Amino acid sequence: MIDNEQVEYKLLLEAIHLKYGYDFRGYASGSLERRVRALLSKFRLNDFSELMQRLLKEPDFFRTILPHMTVGTSEMFRDPHFYKSMRAEIIPALRTFASLNVWVAGCSTGQEAYSLAIMLHEEGLLDRTVIFATDVNPAALKAAREGIFAADTIQLYTRNYVESGGAKTFSDYYTADYGYARMASYLKDNMVFSEHNLGTDGVFSEMNLVMCRNVLIYFDKDLQNRVLNLFRESLRFRGYLCLGSKENLRFSNQAYAFETIDARNKIYQKLSGNL
Ligand SMILES: C[S@@+](CC[C@H](N)C(=O)[O-])C[C@H]1O[C@@H](n2cnc3c(N)ncnc32)[C@H](O)[C@@H]1O
Repeated sequence: MIDNEQVEYKLLLEAIHLKYGYDFRGYASGSLERRVRALLSKFRLNDFSELMQRLLKEPDFFRTILPHMTVGTSEMFRDPHFYKSMRAEIIPALRTFASLNVWVAGCSTGQEAYSLAIMLHEEGLLDRTVIFATDVNPAALKAAREGIFAADTIQLYTRNYVESGGAKTFSDYYTADYGYARMASYLKDNMVFSEHNLGTDGVFSEMNLVMCRNVLIYFDKDLQNRVLNLFRESLRFRGYLCLGSKENLRFSNQAYAFETIDARNKIYQKLSGNL
């Protein structure tokens, strides 16, 4: 029999969904529950019911805790071998289009979108591309829009950039400023940042490429299938889908609609326009 604490936890997620429209019910339970539990001690609350009462009464409190409900870890050129593979497997096909739409879903604070913009710039494709960078967390999107990263991350980002096959020098793309690195503004000229909830919102259509890396890992199987269906519907014929290194399309109910281009780097291509 389910214990009372689990009942309270489930009611809390239900309440957030009903009151604020954010649906965390399909998140993999262990990791989300740990994050919610950490909120209890952070805000000196006794149990999930107390947290629920406070959330229901104080919309501002919900906005405060929302960023803590998800994991926003990101890096520029994260998994450099993935970007290397992208250059080899995807870029040549993208070159054949006069205009390109790319969706970076779950972009967090923007590192992935800027990495992509740098690569497209080096390949001469940035001017013809619109990058839709979306996330459920408004605070992360605000940081993404600003494109300012802590200086102590730059060493790692530079190493990743070099390993990913970067054609220039990473410092060409930012200006250093009092402990921060500000990304060159032309990189975001064609970026559109917007709030989008993969659990509840609809498709962005006619994408040449959808990147959604290190997001599905936090979802349960049903939510993963919903989101993969969304991506299939958003992609044009022969469009590409890129997932994170620990994520896999193979065991989902959308596997039939995609061909594997690079199994290690989780790059897939949609097989047909009307599946
Ligand atoms: C670990 S970060 C991944 C960031 C980036 N894609 C990367 O791989 O470096 C996961 C992101 O997914 C976002 N996320 C979680 N649930 C989401 C949802 N339902 N809809 C959209 N984004 C979501 C989080 O806010 C977070 O920014």
